[in-house]
Amino acid sequence: MTDKASDKKFKALQAPKGVPDYVPPVSAEFRAVKEAFTRTAHNAGYEHIELPVFEETSLFARGVGESTDVVSKEMYTFADRGGRSVTLRPEGTAGVMRSVIQHNLDRGQLPLKLVYNGPFFRYERPQAGRYRQLQQVGIEAIGVDDPALDAEVIALADRCFRSIGLKGYRLELTTLGDNSDRPEYRSRLQEFLRTLPLDEETRHRAEINPLRVLDDKRPEMKEMLADAPLMLDHLSETSRAHFDAVRGYLDDLGVMYTINPRLVRGLDYYTKTCFEFVHDDLGAQSGIGGGGRYDGLMAQLGGQDLSGIGFGLGVDRALLALQTEGIAASNGRRVDVYGVPLGADAKRTMVRIVDELRAVGLSADMSYGDRGLKGAMKGANRAGALYALVMGEAELESGTVAVKDLTAHEQQDVAVDAVKQYLVEALTQRCPERG
Ligand code: HAM
Repeated sequence: MTDKASDKKFKALQAPKGVPDYVPPVSAEFRAVKEAFTRTAHNAGYEHIELPVFEETSLFARGVGESTDVVSKEMYTFADRGGRSVTLRPEGTAGVMRSVIQHNLDRGQLPLKLVYNGPFFRYERPQAGRYRQLQQVGIEAIGVDDPALDAEVIALADRCFRSIGLKGYRLELTTLGDNSDRPEYRSRLQEFLRTLPLDEETRHRAEINPLRVLDDKRPEMKEMLADAPLMLDHLSETSRAHFDAVRGYLDDLGVMYTINPRLVRGLDYYTKTCFEFVHDDLGAQSGIGGGGRYDGLMAQLGGQDLSGIGFGLGVDRALLALQTEGIAASNGRRVDVYGVPLGADAKRTMVRIVDELRAVGLSADMSYGDRGLKGAMKGANRAGALYALVMGEAELESGTVAVKDLTAHEQQDVAVDAVKQYLVEALTQRCPERG
């Protein structure tokens, strides 16, 4: 069988359904978003934590809550070859808590501030902005129950989105109360729900997770729920004071928000402050990030009874939001400098120059395959380079390189020995953040 014939026999492979690839040039945007988010967290003193992509299944059952859709319907759970039940992480907070407890990180300076990023897995119905492998950048601030910390976390999420240039999003905020007022409110809500003609599934949900019913998007349900009691009207004095203080700090920080008393998050561990960032151009999958307090979670997982608050930002959705706003998060440059050698001798010199530029931290690439001037310059433009270094016979003879400024369309001959210093200075001047 010829190669061609055997090719035909196999269908080209595709990534699994709902699992996105990020390939160039979009992958540059992906990386820019992720880096901007993590940089924002590092600037606020959050330290990197790298966690396993799969954990024992019981972590999520105990941490996230068995009544949630995430745990009951969406987990990638399987037995490993030793017969242990493991699950691809559907979210990050439970794993962070597990790791903090395991490594006694909660015994040091508090709050413990951690940032993580990477893929998470949820068996959801794929559609635009809803993937089975999704990417998040998350932070957790553990061990201090201070409304100023709630405000910090929320303001940082806002700063993350602003740092990539996003504008068309808004912040919704509420409080879910705590152990002193939520149980009573829960019963009150259940009593109300029992008076309604609910379908079987909703009735069941009302019994195990009544707050989730408030989130029902069906118009007839919205109508029926118009008079439902709201947590915000049944807060204890301490919960109210905490929430008011968070709002005060957010006002001081100039972070705009609206109160949504019906805001419900899809994970069970939340207490007190809860928030979601929404981008209205994204249709049904409008949540670009969210989070809140989870004061009982660590104790629930067998650790100390410490408080915590954090967020998870959806990198995939932030990317889509950027696209709808027509904004680029990356500078579109693969490299700053691109070598264009013309002839074998020039190539030998250029290989060395490019290597030296890389050694001093400049980004540089060059044309390979002995291309002519036109083809090689095309390569320089495709790379988005700021400078092309052209070296032909004439330059070889005079020991120089023609440095072409590809944006100003100017050219200068620089001695081979001086080109490194010339470019370091030129690029520091153009992009001061490099210095
Ligand atoms: P979450 O709201 O489930 O929270 O997810 C955070 C963000 O991840 C969402 O706002 C959304 O942007 C993105 N996301 C979720 N599911 C998908 C999906 N199927 N496809 C694309 N993007 C998605 C958490 O995961 C919490 N662990 C956040 C947190 C940290 N709370 C406290 N600390």
